[in-house]
Amino acid sequence: MEAHSVNILPLLKNQWGITRLQYLQQIGKIAQQRGIAAYLVGGAVRDLFLQRYAPDMDIAVEGDVRALAEACKAQIPGADYQYHERFGTATLQNPHGFALDMAQCRLEHYPAPAALPEVRPGDILADLARRDFTVNAMALRLDPEHFGKLLDPYAGQADLQRGQLRTLHSRSFLDDPTRILRGLRFAARFQMALVPESRQQLREALQADIFARLSAARLWRELRYLLELAVLPQALSLLSDWNLWFLLRPAPADIHAIQALIQRGQEQIQWMQQHFPQEPIAVTTVMLILLWQDSPLADIQQHLDQWPIPDRSRLQADLRIIPDLPKTIPQSIRPSQRAKIWQGCSVAGILAAMAMYPDNPVLVDSARLYLLKQKHLQPMLNGQELQALGLTAGPSLGNVLKLLRDAQLDGEISDKETAQQWLIKQGILPANPR
Ligand code: CTP
Repeated sequence: MEAHSVNILPLLKNQWGITRLQYLQQIGKIAQQRGIAAYLVGGAVRDLFLQRYAPDMDIAVEGDVRALAEACKAQIPGADYQYHERFGTATLQNPHGFALDMAQCRLEHYPAPAALPEVRPGDILADLARRDFTVNAMALRLDPEHFGKLLDPYAGQADLQRGQLRTLHSRSFLDDPTRILRGLRFAARFQMALVPESRQQLREALQADIFARLSAARLWRELRYLLELAVLPQALSLLSDWNLWFLLRPAPADIHAIQALIQRGQEQIQWMQQHFPQEPIAVTTVMLILLWQDSPLADIQQHLDQWPIPDRSRLQADLRIIPDLPKTIPQSIRPSQRAKIWQGCSVAGILAAMAMYPDNPVLVDSARLYLLKQKHLQPMLNGQELQALGLTAGPSLGNVLKLLRDAQLDGEISDKETAQQWLIKQGILPANPR
């Protein structure tokens, strides 16, 4: 049944190393002992030919997934698995830390355009036939006699070599419009071009207004992956070519300007990551702000309402504050006043602002200063120390702490001693404490 019989063993050994190879061989052997056929499928096979490291592996199983996972647990030292009842899939962990998902080969039927498919068990060819693109519809046999043999019924390997992205059938995008955005990501990541037939299918899907049938949650999931891409500038150029701006913005953007802006945003994110490697950064928020910075808030309200965007109210606040920053930041003379303005923005908003106003050194420098030094600044004297000096606990103490912090930001105090003198000068502490 193989369309090709390329032996991939040397490539596998080179790309993945002997440990991963032996692990797959072990699984193939265990499956065979149980009379189950197992195949490596999907992205891992594609990435192998692209000479890219694939962190995740998907195994398609003709037979009982749970039985295979159980046998792997019993026979591979240190292996364990979780069975996901709802999907009939299993995640196998081994001591080497490879993530491996097992799923039963299945046939898919789409009851309506953009609806979730109905599935039933099938063989490996049916499982490959249900997939999105030819380059993702390849499988490697894992059984010992034919280990590493390629099943490539749609000539995915040839498409990969030619850099061609091709759907398997004419209804693919109508069945599942998320494939359009998946395709966009593949095309950008692997520098592939959508072949003319698939391009025509894309036009037809857009004419049928297929995205209107997709739930906001499913659309957002795909958009999030898109916004997190390192190659987002290139992906946006495809988004423009494929007439998909409407998914992200009320109106098409000037592609060169937006690409430059996004790239600067990515550079600011990298800068932040270098300084605060532990701090998670809301990359999607930075990118949304940059993509929406020139759109009236009312025009993007629909997206804001529909998509399950994390921290939506902060994002809205950022979108309101950022356009005024070139005016408000230079006008605020004291560092503490600037810090207060930055405090109103999220970290994502600040990074976006730094990308938006690269020619405004006052703004960029004060943003950097805020993130590096001011945001986490502790007052010179803490609450306990202030109480020891005679102040009473309560909201007024909180205010004193804020005042101290501001004085520190403005360079009026530099240590506990000058802080105490400053408090006396302000009349907050008596001049001659007992
Ligand atoms: N797939 C599909 N249609 C979808 C989603 C997934 O056909 N809407 C298939 C593809 O064949 C894909 C496989 O399921 O290769 C696994 O999907 P996923 O893990 O999301 O993607 P990968 O191809 O592994 O790619 P990535 O490198 O982005 O993880």
